[in-house]
Amino acid sequence: EQPQAVKDTLAAYVKEGKIDFSEGGLDWKELKEVTRFYFVACGSAYHVSLVAKNVIEDLTEIPVECDVASEFRYRNPKLQEGGMVVVISQSGETADSIAALRLAKEKGLPVLSIVNVLGSTIARESDHVLYTCAGPEISVATTKAYSCQLAAGYIFSLLLAKAKGKISKEETRSLTEELFLLPGKIQQCLSFDQEILPMAKELKDADNIFFLGRGLDWAISMEGALKLKEISYIHCESYSSGELKHGTISLIEKGSPVIGLLSQEELAGKSISNIHEVRSRGAKCFAIRMEDITIEEEDFAHNLIVP
Ligand code: F6R
Repeated sequence: EQPQAVKDTLAAYVKEGKIDFSEGGLDWKELKEVTRFYFVACGSAYHVSLVAKNVIEDLTEIPVECDVASEFRYRNPKLQEGGMVVVISQSGETADSIAALRLAKEKGLPVLSIVNVLGSTIARESDHVLYTCAGPEISVATTKAYSCQLAAGYIFSLLLAKAKGKISKEETRSLTEELFLLPGKIQQCLSFDQEILPMAKELKDADNIFFLGRGLDWAISMEGALKLKEISYIHCESYSSGELKHGTISLIEKGSPVIGLLSQEELAGKSISNIHEVRSRGAKCFAIRMEDITIEEEDFAHNLIVP
């Protein structure tokens, strides 16, 4: 269902090629004045916020802070006037996220939520709501809702960049068109069973699996690690490629499985040098990479190319 869910979410906010959030009660002028965003969420939704932070800061230069909702509510956060709190939640009923929303409102900040369930508590109590169109998320492990939250996050970032005058009409159009290619690319990934199966067979008896990534790849790998441990019961963690050497590398031994995410050309060289570090300690490495990122095949036991 992921391709359709993502397509529906994009289509809900892009009308005749133009981004339109008016249904969510989001006023263009209000958005333009926001000086800082505070994203608050739990689990997979928190991982989405880390992607949104990267994209918003890159496109708009507006600072974005991300908090795990259960920490936010207990750390007496300092929220600046002019800021906006963004709560991301599939169910709209997660207790820590609701508490964070109420705290933000107490502190006088407007709250925008990205929610999947219509009329849920978070949707009702927020000033603005961007609904994702994932439909009922039956699986305990969020999958299509996560993808839809990412899609909503990207559209929101584009609108923001446009409101702030940071990207031109043409750039907005071309990036929006690019987003609409996603459902087809997701569909392609869903047909990769033949490529994934041998990799899964090699990983199924592992006690520990490590994910490595930088930037956006790190944010995405956190979700990979969460999903993998949640549904396979194999212990799995994600590390930022550059941080691994500050302690965790001591866990890497002969045969330790390491999955490297390589999707950003400008960071790939650095990430690959971290792969070499773990390889020199005997790790068995797997790559999930974009086609245009070149690797030395012998560095990886398997490498999965995503569109
Ligand atoms: C992981 C997962 C959880 C949720 C988290 C937040 O697969 O589903 O980590 O993302 O519990 O739930 P929502 O989005 O409903 O607030």
